[in-house]
Amino acid sequence: MDKIVSLAKRRGFVFQSSEIYGGLNGCWDYGPLGVELLNNLKQSWWRAMTYRDDIEGVDASILMHPRVWEASGHVANFTDPMVDCRQCKARYRVDVLMDELNTKKKKDVLRELYPGEFDGQQPDERIASEFAARIAGDEATAKALTVIACPNCGTKSSFTEARQFNLMFKTFVGPVEDSNNVVYLRPETAQGIFVNFLNVQNASRQKLPFGIAQIGKAFRNEINTKNFLFRTREFEQMEMQYFVKPGEEDRFFEYWRGERMNWFLSLGMKPEHLQWHKHEKLAHYAKAAFDIEFKFPFGWGEVEGIHSRTDFDLGSHEKFSGKAMKYFDEQSKEKFVPYVIETSVGASRSFMAFLCAAFDEEMVEGEMRTVLRFHPSLAPMKAAVLPLVNRDGMDDIARSMTRELQKHFRVFYDDSGAIGRRYRRQDEIGTPYCFTVDSQTLQDRTVTVRERDSMQQERIAMDAVKEYLLTRIHP
Ligand code: GAP
Repeated sequence: MDKIVSLAKRRGFVFQSSEIYGGLNGCWDYGPLGVELLNNLKQSWWRAMTYRDDIEGVDASILMHPRVWEASGHVANFTDPMVDCRQCKARYRVDVLMDELNTKKKKDVLRELYPGEFDGQQPDERIASEFAARIAGDEATAKALTVIACPNCGTKSSFTEARQFNLMFKTFVGPVEDSNNVVYLRPETAQGIFVNFLNVQNASRQKLPFGIAQIGKAFRNEINTKNFLFRTREFEQMEMQYFVKPGEEDRFFEYWRGERMNWFLSLGMKPEHLQWHKHEKLAHYAKAAFDIEFKFPFGWGEVEGIHSRTDFDLGSHEKFSGKAMKYFDEQSKEKFVPYVIETSVGASRSFMAFLCAAFDEEMVEGEMRTVLRFHPSLAPMKAAVLPLVNRDGMDDIARSMTRELQKHFRVFYDDSGAIGRRYRRQDEIGTPYCFTVDSQTLQDRTVTVRERDSMQQERIAMDAVKEYLLTRIHP
């Protein structure tokens, strides 16, 4: 992870937010290459999700009517229990604190709370399952907190009582900062879709089943941010709500699970780096929920959730707003609130997953080569154009070729340093193709193309370069 974070900073993918002031926890800035990668990722999602007949796009505002968040349940329930260490003032999310205890510490807690029961040798799995079963519920958790040591300063019995902390950022509209003027920075983009369900349906004349997709910023005042872009306070989501007739939700749930897994695979992720996680504990309105998890360097972590949400959201907005959210089915002449299948993926979190999946180091002729093996459609730079030497007109040809290609793709021109060094600099940022203009180009207008992963070279006509890139970027 350290290598990836350091490469991300050095080559301009991701910088700490407000770095010259010491940074702002949980916020990151995308640099010149990062913004390209992020845009390509979002574009790829947008293409996959909306370049089809049954899905429309929206871009709703970040600030919404505060009743939206009452209807969605976020005001009452979007909370995490947290505790502070009285000694060192470190703050923890209780569930994370519990999750991160290793087996030995879990055993210590069980021994203290259940004297005599855990004195012998027990297999790790038994400790894990006993811990999960016994340290469940508020009372048991409160007891466990009295014997767990603070991970930061090591003091025992130093935690405050757990308090519920709402993760929504609050602000005010207009000049008066009172409770009548409270608004929230949206903690998910989904509600901007639900409140526009009928607007979109009427405007686009869509019939069930159909979906609405949105990409946008979301904000959560996370108690602990961690692991680079994995859990941040400002991030971007790519969400799609698919509206179906009640009774058809299971079929479409399976369909969207398949589609979303395929999206990651189509962008070059290896099947062994992805897995499904089924939610056993479901929100009261949910029928089913699965996460797609990616194998990050620090372990498996969720990148996308696929949720079968029944008619909870639209039904709730109907109650809170007093406006009907029903769909009229012309065939059956029935009016009903549709059921929803949601796909929800973090743009920033999957950015990090694709960065981790792409990172590789290998020995080539006695030297370490760092390479980002991005799928060409995600790569920030699609190609580099390199004159072998800066004379005999090679640089002029390379420059004019660059200008031509830049009408269609992000392309980098580089004429400084030995050709091998220039290839390595492109490998390190994941540029899939390098076109080199050499003395043969002057005679027959061909260039060499060097492929990043295999490092194989072949000669192609200069006039064929645009087509060569097009067919590989969007196969
Ligand atoms: N509308 C459903 C929803 O928001 P979620 O599981 O809370 O579901 C969906 O979030 C996705 O958003 C996650 O799978 C993750 O990729 C991303 N995400 C959530 N919280 C995040 C955070 N604090 N930082 C970065 N990404 C986050």
